[in-house]
Amino acid sequence: MPEFDNNVPHIARVYDYWLGGKDNFEVDRELGEKTIEAYPNIVFTVRTNRAFLARSVTYLARDAGVRQFLDIGTGIPTANNTHEVAQRLAPESRIVYADNDPVVLTHAQALLRSTPEGACAYLDADLREPDQILAAAAETLDFSKPVGVMLIAVMQFIADDDDARAITGQLLAGCAPGSFLTMTHPARDVDAGQVSEMVRRLNESVAEKVTTRDHDGVVRLFDGLELVPPGVVRAPQWRPESELAEASPAALWAGVGRKP
Ligand SMILES: C[S@@+](CC[C@H](N)C(=O)[O-])C[C@H]1O[C@@H](n2cnc3c(N)ncnc32)[C@H](O)[C@@H]1O
Repeated sequence: MPEFDNNVPHIARVYDYWLGGKDNFEVDRELGEKTIEAYPNIVFTVRTNRAFLARSVTYLARDAGVRQFLDIGTGIPTANNTHEVAQRLAPESRIVYADNDPVVLTHAQALLRSTPEGACAYLDADLREPDQILAAAAETLDFSKPVGVMLIAVMQFIADDDDARAITGQLLAGCAPGSFLTMTHPARDVDAGQVSEMVRRLNESVAEKVTTRDHDGVVRLFDGLELVPPGVVRAPQWRPESELAEASPAALWAGVGRKP
Protein backbone atom coordinates (compact mmCIF):
# COMPACT_ATOMS: atom_id res chain seq x y z
CA MET A 1 0.00 0.00 0.00
CA PRO A 2 1.54 3.37 -0.98
CA GLU A 3 2.33 5.87 1.76
CA PHE A 4 -0.18 8.67 2.30
CA ASP A 5 2.47 11.37 2.23
CA ASN A 6 1.93 14.74 0.56
CA ASN A 7 5.69 15.38 0.33
CA VAL A 8 6.27 12.41 -1.97
CA PRO A 9 4.94 12.46 -5.51
CA HIS A 10 2.07 10.10 -6.00
CA ILE A 11 1.13 8.39 -9.25
CA ALA A 12 -2.66 8.99 -9.02
CA ARG A 13 -2.03 12.71 -8.36
CA VAL A 14 0.61 13.02 -11.12
CA TYR A 15 -1.94 11.44 -13.47
CA ASP A 16 -4.48 14.00 -12.24
CA TYR A 17 -1.97 16.77 -13.02
CA TRP A 18 -1.38 15.42 -16.56
CA LEU A 19 -5.18 15.51 -17.03
CA GLY A 20 -5.33 19.15 -15.91
CA GLY A 21 -7.00 18.30 -12.56
CA LYS A 22 -6.69 20.11 -9.24
CA ASP A 23 -6.21 17.12 -6.90
CA ASN A 24 -2.41 17.34 -6.78
CA PHE A 25 0.38 18.90 -4.73
CA GLU A 26 3.59 20.78 -5.58
CA VAL A 27 5.69 17.56 -5.60
CA ASP A 28 3.22 15.94 -8.02
CA ARG A 29 3.28 18.99 -10.31
CA GLU A 30 7.11 18.98 -10.32
CA LEU A 31 7.25 15.32 -11.34
CA GLY A 32 4.40 15.97 -13.77
CA GLU A 33 6.52 18.65 -15.50
CA LYS A 34 9.68 16.47 -15.45
CA THR A 35 7.82 13.65 -17.17
CA ILE A 36 6.09 15.96 -19.66
CA GLU A 37 9.56 17.28 -20.56
CA ALA A 38 10.67 13.70 -21.34
CA TYR A 39 7.49 12.80 -23.24
CA PRO A 40 5.33 15.83 -24.12
CA ASN A 41 2.68 13.57 -25.65
CA ILE A 42 1.86 12.09 -22.23
CA VAL A 43 -0.68 14.91 -22.00
CA PHE A 44 -2.45 13.64 -25.14
CA THR A 45 -1.99 10.04 -24.00
CA VAL A 46 -3.93 10.52 -20.75
CA ARG A 47 -6.65 12.49 -22.48
CA THR A 48 -7.08 9.79 -25.13
CA ASN A 49 -7.21 7.28 -22.27
CA ARG A 50 -10.20 9.05 -20.71
CA ALA A 51 -11.82 9.49 -24.13
CA PHE A 52 -11.40 5.75 -24.76
CA LEU A 53 -13.00 4.98 -21.39
CA ALA A 54 -16.07 7.01 -22.38
CA ARG A 55 -16.26 5.47 -25.90
CA SER A 56 -15.82 1.91 -24.67
CA VAL A 57 -18.42 2.28 -21.88
CA THR A 58 -20.75 3.79 -24.47
CA TYR A 59 -20.12 0.81 -26.75
CA LEU A 60 -20.80 -1.66 -23.90
CA ALA A 61 -23.92 0.09 -22.61
CA ARG A 62 -25.48 1.15 -25.92
CA ASP A 63 -24.35 -1.49 -28.43
CA ALA A 64 -23.68 -4.56 -26.27
CA GLY A 65 -26.46 -4.05 -23.69
CA VAL A 66 -24.13 -4.33 -20.67
CA ARG A 67 -25.71 -3.03 -17.45
CA GLN A 68 -23.01 -3.96 -14.90
CA PHE A 69 -19.46 -2.65 -14.67
CA LEU A 70 -16.49 -3.53 -12.48
CA ASP A 71 -13.93 -0.71 -12.80
CA ILE A 72 -10.64 -1.65 -11.11
CA GLY A 73 -7.91 0.96 -10.70
CA THR A 74 -10.49 3.71 -10.75
CA GLY A 75 -8.24 6.68 -10.01
CA ILE A 76 -9.18 10.07 -8.58
CA PRO A 77 -12.64 10.96 -9.93
CA THR A 78 -12.59 13.24 -12.97
CA ALA A 79 -14.98 14.03 -15.82
CA ASN A 80 -17.01 11.15 -17.27
CA ASN A 81 -16.39 8.42 -14.74
CA THR A 82 -17.71 4.98 -15.71
CA HIS A 83 -21.00 5.28 -13.80
CA GLU A 84 -21.75 8.69 -15.30
CA VAL A 85 -21.29 7.47 -18.88
CA ALA A 86 -23.15 4.18 -18.30
CA GLN A 87 -26.06 5.63 -16.31
CA ARG A 88 -26.55 8.46 -18.82
CA LEU A 89 -27.33 5.78 -21.39
CA ALA A 90 -28.94 3.23 -19.05
CA PRO A 91 -29.89 4.68 -15.63
CA GLU A 92 -30.36 1.18 -14.17
CA SER A 93 -26.63 0.39 -14.61
CA ARG A 94 -24.79 -0.98 -11.59
CA ILE A 95 -21.13 -0.07 -11.08
CA VAL A 96 -18.50 -1.29 -8.65
CA TYR A 97 -15.27 0.68 -8.41
CA ALA A 98 -12.12 -0.76 -6.81
CA ASP A 99 -8.79 0.89 -6.04
CA ASN A 100 -6.13 0.12 -3.43
CA ASP A 101 -5.00 3.70 -2.94
CA PRO A 102 -5.87 5.72 0.17
CA VAL A 103 -5.72 8.93 -1.88
CA VAL A 104 -8.44 7.60 -4.19
CA LEU A 105 -10.44 6.38 -1.19
CA THR A 106 -10.62 9.92 0.19
CA HIS A 107 -12.26 11.04 -3.08
CA ALA A 108 -14.53 8.01 -3.44
CA GLN A 109 -17.70 9.84 -2.41
CA ALA A 110 -17.91 11.42 -5.88
CA LEU A 111 -18.03 7.91 -7.37
CA LEU A 112 -21.09 6.93 -5.40
CA ARG A 113 -23.60 9.43 -6.80
CA SER A 114 -25.74 6.85 -8.51
CA THR A 115 -29.03 7.28 -10.25
CA PRO A 116 -31.87 6.02 -8.03
CA GLU A 117 -32.56 3.17 -10.52
CA GLY A 118 -28.95 1.97 -10.55
CA ALA A 119 -26.24 1.39 -7.95
CA CYS A 120 -22.63 2.41 -7.29
CA ALA A 121 -20.22 0.89 -4.79
CA TYR A 122 -16.57 1.46 -3.98
CA LEU A 123 -14.16 -1.23 -2.79
CA ASP A 124 -10.87 -0.48 -1.11
CA ALA A 125 -9.26 -3.51 -2.75
CA ASP A 126 -6.18 -4.76 -4.59
CA LEU A 127 -6.14 -5.92 -8.20
CA ARG A 128 -3.63 -8.59 -7.15
CA GLU A 129 -6.45 -10.28 -5.22
CA PRO A 130 -9.06 -10.75 -7.96
CA ASP A 131 -11.08 -13.37 -6.08
CA GLN A 132 -11.57 -11.01 -3.15
CA ILE A 133 -12.69 -8.27 -5.54
CA LEU A 134 -15.18 -10.63 -7.22
CA ALA A 135 -16.57 -11.78 -3.86
CA ALA A 136 -17.04 -8.22 -2.56
CA ALA A 137 -18.42 -6.96 -5.90
CA ALA A 138 -21.05 -9.74 -5.84
CA GLU A 139 -22.90 -7.73 -3.19
CA THR A 140 -23.74 -5.21 -5.92
CA LEU A 141 -23.34 -7.11 -9.23
CA ASP A 142 -25.03 -10.29 -10.45
CA PHE A 143 -22.20 -12.39 -11.90
CA SER A 144 -24.64 -14.75 -13.63
CA LYS A 145 -25.24 -11.84 -16.06
CA PRO A 146 -22.65 -10.07 -18.27
CA VAL A 147 -20.26 -7.63 -16.62
CA GLY A 148 -17.94 -5.10 -18.24
CA VAL A 149 -14.60 -5.47 -16.43
CA MET A 150 -12.63 -2.24 -16.85
CA LEU A 151 -8.86 -2.28 -16.39
CA ILE A 152 -8.11 1.23 -17.61
CA ALA A 153 -4.45 2.23 -17.23
CA VAL A 154 -3.86 -0.09 -14.28
CA MET A 155 -2.20 -3.30 -15.57
CA GLN A 156 1.11 -1.39 -15.89
CA PHE A 157 1.40 -1.75 -12.10
CA ILE A 158 1.61 -5.55 -12.45
CA ALA A 159 5.20 -6.04 -13.59
CA ASP A 160 5.22 -9.78 -14.17
CA ASP A 161 3.54 -11.02 -17.39
CA ASP A 162 2.39 -14.31 -15.88
CA ASP A 163 0.87 -12.53 -12.89
CA ALA A 164 -0.87 -10.08 -15.22
CA ARG A 165 -2.35 -12.90 -17.34
CA ALA A 166 -3.42 -14.79 -14.23
CA ILE A 167 -5.26 -11.69 -12.96
CA THR A 168 -7.21 -11.03 -16.17
CA GLY A 169 -7.90 -14.80 -16.46
CA GLN A 170 -9.23 -15.03 -12.90
CA LEU A 171 -11.38 -11.95 -13.24
CA LEU A 172 -13.02 -13.18 -16.44
CA ALA A 173 -13.36 -16.73 -15.09
CA GLY A 174 -15.67 -15.25 -12.44
CA CYS A 175 -17.86 -13.52 -15.05
CA ALA A 176 -20.72 -14.90 -17.17
CA PRO A 177 -20.31 -15.59 -20.92
CA GLY A 178 -21.04 -12.38 -22.82
CA SER A 179 -18.95 -10.37 -20.32
CA PHE A 180 -16.26 -8.01 -21.56
CA LEU A 181 -12.73 -7.03 -20.62
CA THR A 182 -11.92 -3.40 -21.49
CA MET A 183 -8.31 -2.42 -21.11
CA THR A 184 -5.79 0.29 -21.84
CA HIS A 185 -2.07 -0.12 -21.27
CA PRO A 186 0.95 2.22 -21.67
CA ALA A 187 2.85 1.21 -24.81
CA ARG A 188 6.52 0.26 -24.84
CA ASP A 189 6.67 0.26 -28.66
CA VAL A 190 5.23 3.70 -29.46
CA ASP A 191 7.55 6.73 -29.18
CA ALA A 192 9.79 4.18 -27.46
CA GLY A 193 12.81 6.35 -26.57
CA GLN A 194 10.79 9.18 -25.04
CA VAL A 195 8.41 6.85 -23.24
CA SER A 196 11.21 4.87 -21.63
CA GLU A 197 12.84 8.08 -20.36
CA MET A 198 9.51 9.29 -18.98
CA VAL A 199 8.94 5.96 -17.19
CA ARG A 200 12.49 6.09 -15.80
CA ARG A 201 11.81 9.55 -14.31
CA LEU A 202 8.48 8.38 -12.94
CA ASN A 203 9.79 5.17 -11.37
CA GLU A 204 12.65 7.07 -9.75
CA SER A 205 10.11 8.92 -7.57
CA VAL A 206 6.84 7.03 -7.14
CA ALA A 207 6.11 4.02 -4.93
CA GLU A 208 3.99 2.22 -7.51
CA LYS A 209 6.37 1.31 -10.36
CA VAL A 210 5.19 1.33 -13.96
CA THR A 211 5.94 -1.43 -16.49
CA THR A 212 5.09 -0.70 -20.13
CA ARG A 213 4.15 -3.51 -22.56
CA ASP A 214 4.35 -3.87 -26.33
CA HIS A 215 1.38 -4.60 -28.59
CA ASP A 216 1.77 -8.41 -28.43
CA GLY A 217 2.16 -8.29 -24.64
CA VAL A 218 -1.14 -6.44 -24.33
CA VAL A 219 -2.92 -8.75 -26.80
CA ARG A 220 -1.83 -11.71 -24.62
CA LEU A 221 -3.72 -10.22 -21.67
CA PHE A 222 -6.93 -10.79 -23.68
CA ASP A 223 -6.19 -14.54 -23.93
CA GLY A 224 -9.34 -16.64 -24.40
CA LEU A 225 -11.49 -13.62 -25.36
CA GLU A 226 -12.86 -12.55 -28.74
CA LEU A 227 -11.45 -9.13 -29.57
CA VAL A 228 -14.12 -6.63 -30.59
CA PRO A 229 -13.07 -4.95 -33.88
CA PRO A 230 -10.72 -3.19 -34.48
CA GLY A 231 -8.83 -5.28 -31.88
CA VAL A 232 -5.96 -3.92 -29.81
CA VAL A 233 -4.95 -0.60 -31.36
CA ARG A 234 -3.60 2.73 -30.17
CA ALA A 235 -6.36 4.20 -27.99
CA PRO A 236 -7.34 7.05 -30.36
CA GLN A 237 -7.84 4.50 -33.16
CA TRP A 238 -10.42 2.42 -31.29
CA ARG A 239 -13.78 3.36 -32.88
CA PRO A 240 -12.86 7.06 -33.11
CA GLU A 241 -15.55 9.72 -33.23
CA SER A 242 -13.65 12.00 -35.61
CA GLU A 243 -10.60 12.01 -37.87
CA LEU A 244 -9.08 14.70 -35.70
CA ALA A 245 -9.44 12.59 -32.53
CA GLU A 246 -8.08 9.52 -34.34
CA ALA A 247 -4.92 11.41 -35.28
CA SER A 248 -4.05 12.22 -31.65
CA PRO A 249 -0.65 11.02 -30.46
CA ALA A 250 -0.81 8.48 -27.62
CA ALA A 251 1.57 5.77 -26.41
CA LEU A 252 -1.32 3.65 -25.23
CA TRP A 253 -2.75 0.32 -26.39
CA ALA A 254 -6.47 -0.20 -25.99
CA GLY A 255 -8.95 -2.98 -26.67
CA VAL A 256 -12.19 -4.68 -25.71
CA GLY A 257 -12.55 -8.47 -25.57
CA ARG A 258 -15.74 -10.53 -25.18
CA LYS A 259 -15.96 -13.74 -23.19
CA PRO A 260 -17.47 -16.36 -25.52
C1 LIG B 1 -3.18 5.82 -13.93
S1 LIG B 1 -4.50 5.66 -12.79
C2 LIG B 1 -5.84 5.26 -13.86
C3 LIG B 1 -7.16 5.77 -13.37
C4 LIG B 1 -8.37 5.49 -14.27
N1 LIG B 1 -8.60 4.06 -14.44
C5 LIG B 1 -8.17 6.14 -15.61
O1 LIG B 1 -7.76 5.42 -16.53
O2 LIG B 1 -8.36 7.34 -15.76
C6 LIG B 1 -4.14 4.07 -12.04
C7 LIG B 1 -5.00 3.72 -10.83
O3 LIG B 1 -4.77 2.34 -10.51
C8 LIG B 1 -4.67 2.19 -9.11
N2 LIG B 1 -3.91 0.98 -8.78
C9 LIG B 1 -2.58 0.75 -8.96
N3 LIG B 1 -2.25 -0.47 -8.52
C10 LIG B 1 -3.39 -1.04 -8.05
C11 LIG B 1 -3.69 -2.29 -7.45
N4 LIG B 1 -2.73 -3.21 -7.27
N5 LIG B 1 -4.95 -2.54 -7.07
C12 LIG B 1 -5.93 -1.61 -7.25
N6 LIG B 1 -5.70 -0.40 -7.83
C13 LIG B 1 -4.46 -0.12 -8.21
C14 LIG B 1 -3.97 3.46 -8.66
O4 LIG B 1 -4.22 3.71 -7.30
C15 LIG B 1 -4.59 4.50 -9.58
O5 LIG B 1 -5.73 5.06 -9.00
